[in-house]
Amino acid sequence: MSDNPGDTRQREIYMGGLAEMTPEVPLAYEDLEAAAMEALDGAAFDYVMGGAGAERTVRANAAAFDRWRLVPRFLRDVAERDLFVEVFGVEQYPFMLAPVGVQSILHEDAELAVARAASAQGVPMVLSSVSSFTIEEVAEALGDTPKWFQLYPSSDREVAASFVARAEAAGYDALVVTVDTPLPGWRERDLQRAYLPFLEGEGIANYTSDPAFRARLDQPPEENPQMAVLEFIDVFGDASLDWEDLAWLCAETDLPVVVKGLLHPADARRATEAGAAGVVVSNHGGRQVDGAIAALDALPRVAEAVADGTAVLFDSGVRRGADAIKALALGADAVLLGRPYAYGLALDGQHGVEEVLRNFRGDLDLTLGLVGHDAVSALDREALVDVWALRLSGLVSG
Ligand SMILES: Cc1cc2nc3c(=O)[nH]c(=O)nc-3n(C[C@H](O)[C@H](O)[C@H](O)COP(=O)(O)O)c2cc1C
Repeated sequence: MSDNPGDTRQREIYMGGLAEMTPEVPLAYEDLEAAAMEALDGAAFDYVMGGAGAERTVRANAAAFDRWRLVPRFLRDVAERDLFVEVFGVEQYPFMLAPVGVQSILHEDAELAVARAASAQGVPMVLSSVSSFTIEEVAEALGDTPKWFQLYPSSDREVAASFVARAEAAGYDALVVTVDTPLPGWRERDLQRAYLPFLEGEGIANYTSDPAFRARLDQPPEENPQMAVLEFIDVFGDASLDWEDLAWLCAETDLPVVVKGLLHPADARRATEAGAAGVVVSNHGGRQVDGAIAALDALPRVAEAVADGTAVLFDSGVRRGADAIKALALGADAVLLGRPYAYGLALDGQHGVEEVLRNFRGDLDLTLGLVGHDAVSALDREALVDVWALRLSGLVSG
């Protein structure tokens, strides 16, 4: 019997059916979201699900996947399939866990549950700056699993430098610098509820445990938590950030730096000139600029613009295996999963995240074989068509 992950996953689900068991964590993204809505309080659910403004970009992210269609090829021996890719010299799955902040509003085990799930499934994790457990605690839970740390560049360079040094010391493999959040997005759901989890002290464990941050406080956070929250708000973001700051950060670390949140090819080129080894094409899941280009629409131009050897990652709208295949065929080396695993965490902690990962991997594997490929690394533009262009050319020629 084959042990390709898709075959294995389907087999275990169907065999469960013989014992009257069906998957408890929903497979379909839409059902996962609906179940999380039931399970969570309204403010926490809206915080995860919502986007900026009228949420046009949230919808555009999903719609962009419809424009590209896979063109299956057959009779090409897909009995054995290789899902692995190489990123910064490490063999890994072509999907990773995106940095998602304040996970304590979803589950008490928060990032620790996610890290344990990542480790159990061998899926790389990107830890957010605004986590509820520290850089060090999450590194320990991840063990040897590839781990990247996402930095929100602080307005206090000493805090930023301290975070980078801690990530290096804790054994992280790369530093992800998120640049699309110099200012908070206009998120109508959160504003309407007047809900910002940080103000309740959620998601600031890296700050309250940081020597450079603590040095700014008159009283330790344990004695005056409210003061620590206000100080966090003060140092969290930096609207004055520019390319020189990025170059400074790249020079500050020996880790490969990956710039997250780029959509314009010129920005991607400039990031690599500043010293970045990779980029994440992303619009933050539509949470920052309402009306921003769908991340998938931005991907091909960015992938073409950067030099060979630059790691190109992608997120915003990846829900199923076919979505990942499309992004990989359009030039991404790997994709990041965001909301799907956040909902898995909300529903059943570590187990919920593991279920999401098992299903995603199974779907990805089977879809890869069904489009006629036996290796993710061989996917290219030949695997898909732009149906708009196809229809237009039909109109013109016919
Ligand atoms: C609740 C939530 C919190 C997030 N927190 C962070 C974060 O702390 N740092 C970051 O770089 N991106 C953050 N993101 C963005 C994700 O890394 C990723 O870009 C986004 O989820 C992709 O969109 P998708 O989930 O719709 O696929 C967050 C996203 C969500 C939904």
